[in-house]
Amino acid sequence: MADVVLKGIHKSYGEVKTLHGIDLEIADGEFIVFVGPSGCGKSTLLRSIAGLEDISAGELYIGGRQVNDEPPARRGVSMVFQSYALYPHMNVAENMAFGLHLAGYTKAQQRAAVENAARILQIEHLLERKPKALSGGQRQRVAIGRAIVRKPDVFLFDEPLSNLDAALRVQMRIEIAKLHKQLAATMIYVTHDQVEAMTLADRIVVLNAGLVEQVGAPLELYHNPATLFVAGFIGSPKMNFLEATVVSGNAQSATVALPQGTQLQASVDASGVVVQSKVTVGFRAEHVELVGAGQAPSGNVLQGEVMAQERLGDLTYLYVQVPDSEHLMTVRAHPSVDAAAGSRVWLHIPEQWVYMFNAEGKAFARHAVSGEKGGSR
Ligand SMILES: Nc1ncnc2c1ncn2[C@@H]1O[C@H](COP(=O)(O)OP(=O)(O)O)[C@@H](O)[C@H]1O
Ligand SMILES: [Mg+2]
Repeated sequence: MADVVLKGIHKSYGEVKTLHGIDLEIADGEFIVFVGPSGCGKSTLLRSIAGLEDISAGELYIGGRQVNDEPPARRGVSMVFQSYALYPHMNVAENMAFGLHLAGYTKAQQRAAVENAARILQIEHLLERKPKALSGGQRQRVAIGRAIVRKPDVFLFDEPLSNLDAALRVQMRIEIAKLHKQLAATMIYVTHDQVEAMTLADRIVVLNAGLVEQVGAPLELYHNPATLFVAGFIGSPKMNFLEATVVSGNAQSATVALPQGTQLQASVDASGVVVQSKVTVGFRAEHVELVGAGQAPSGNVLQGEVMAQERLGDLTYLYVQVPDSEHLMTVRAHPSVDAAAGSRVWLHIPEQWVYMFNAEGKAFARHAVSGEKGGSR
């Protein structure tokens, strides 16, 4: 059991600066997920916590102990890699026991730890097999088993499910959530999978170019992204964005004009906003209401032409060209919707679901829709 505290963590590889001062407090037993675009420093940060990379500046505490200069084996952490990294000439039991063997545990202690981990992961029947006789999912379980036997205070996972097929990923995701409950250990987990991040995390840390962009509960980030970057990163499909100019604003709402003159209202706190200033407005595919021409509400409607549709059975996605943007707007519609390319559609965007960001990419606070989780701030 241990909390993890990062204070001003910097990491450079020679001239290349990768982490620019990461401050983060992770509570004992918390499940933390790091997300961010490729190359933003997720693996570097995880490896720095593990002790596989030297920290260039800053302080790292695990369980209240500063561990900057401790070797990996003395930090109470275990890391699980995407590549599994199993020894091909050892069977499953030997692979799992190897770290304990190096640490000087007796044969009996090794056996007890391996059997316990194998039971938790339901791989007892595989203990005698070599890695090449295992499926990808089984190999990943062994890799997790190897971490469990060490009884670490902190588990570190670097995209552990990325090499598995979609069905297996779902299964292992649920297993990892169960494992977290069962072991009550602190877990830090890197992924680029939106669903893994949203479902596993107590809190998500969004990283951008070596800095923390925002930290929060999954639905808090979904409902109230603090920046344009987080708004575009959390949620799938990606949020739709439009350039706009402020027409008016107060504490209750803002009115903006799109390039072709269409006006939109946003329920945001725009007190102090400068009229005529440039902003970006955003809305999510799932918040658009498709309306018939005759029934279109008078406000907050974009008219457009369907360029493509995807009918997935449980829902339909429309990709819509609106006059006010060169980018296509993504709209999630009812599965019964069948709007072939060329159809004209009217998109109503309820003003509670219109996001607004200033020229620096900072969000204006939204007024939460009632009942919305993580909505108020
Ligand atoms: N051993 C290394 N030497 C030099 N640069 C590195 C090394 N490892 C990572 N980097 C650089 O650090 C940055 C962050 O990499 P990484 O942490 O692997 O990103 P992520 O895991 O978020 O995709 C990248 O620009 C990468 O090229
Ligand atoms: Mg990585």
